[in-house]
Amino acid sequence: MISSAPAKVILFGEHAVVYGKPAIAVAINLRTRVYIERNPKSSFTVNGWPMDDAHHAYIKKAIEEVWGEEPLKITTESEVPSASGMGSSASITVAMVSALLAMKGKDSEEKIARKSFDVEWSTQGRASPIDTSTVTHGQGILVSFKKERNFLWKIERGGTEWYIHHVEIPPLRLVVGFSGVKGPTPKMVEKVRRFYTWNSFARDVIEEIGKITMAALEPLENEDYPKIGELMDRNNKLLTILGVSHPKLKKMIDAARKHSYGAKITGAGGGGCMLALTDEQDEVARAIREAGGIPFKVSISKQGYRIESHL
Ligand code: MEV
Repeated sequence: MISSAPAKVILFGEHAVVYGKPAIAVAINLRTRVYIERNPKSSFTVNGWPMDDAHHAYIKKAIEEVWGEEPLKITTESEVPSASGMGSSASITVAMVSALLAMKGKDSEEKIARKSFDVEWSTQGRASPIDTSTVTHGQGILVSFKKERNFLWKIERGGTEWYIHHVEIPPLRLVVGFSGVKGPTPKMVEKVRRFYTWNSFARDVIEEIGKITMAALEPLENEDYPKIGELMDRNNKLLTILGVSHPKLKKMIDAARKHSYGAKITGAGGGGCMLALTDEQDEVARAIREAGGIPFKVSISKQGYRIESHL
């Protein structure tokens, strides 16, 4: 079985979405691919090594959740840098879960999204379903706290409800800048949780991020790039207040802004990536490189998970 899944970037609402506030994410054209064969006379292996908890946490959990004991030989290939904020863990999880469910003849988009969220939650702890749902569905996803247009499915966990919707996204020209500093999502989510729990100002900031996300829907529909960029800048200020920026991210964002409609941290932050919306992808890529980052000119992936071959 061969299956693949894209990476993602969050346009608006990271961190706030953990508390049930709205967020918008898109799948992008970097993919993770898994090749799976039954391995009857041996044990579970990943890229030629025995599968282990430390290196293959998401793969192992996916097997526990949807497969069982029958040994498999797994080979992975990924274009997504790990701990970059581009959803590398969601991408490998969805590629694995979709392949395993397809081997059982039980794959459906909703089931893959649910099971992949279960895997992510039990591996990394507190999270929202935005990454796994976006990577499963492809294109654009709006997560909100109530049913809106183009509703896909609802996911609940720990008293929070997330309504997942398809959202039409215009052909955005995006550049992602990787700081080269790993941004561990669980650590950043925990940092924001402490701030959120003890500080009412942090709760106001999270509320405001949710409002910015909802305000972005109309400009996205109307392809109003200056307005989308302005909202990205405002979202970035609030993420900085939440304490998830990093000096390298700030430097790349400042450099990219000269040629962009807007730029912001994307994903969990604390390292990881920034994102710029621009008409001048080459200029922005150069500015990010000069600021010490690794640029990726990305486009939106219409395709979410894909079963590529069923041998
Ligand atoms: C990570 O890509 C996005 C966060 O909001 C965490 C989550 O929603 O699970 C930081």
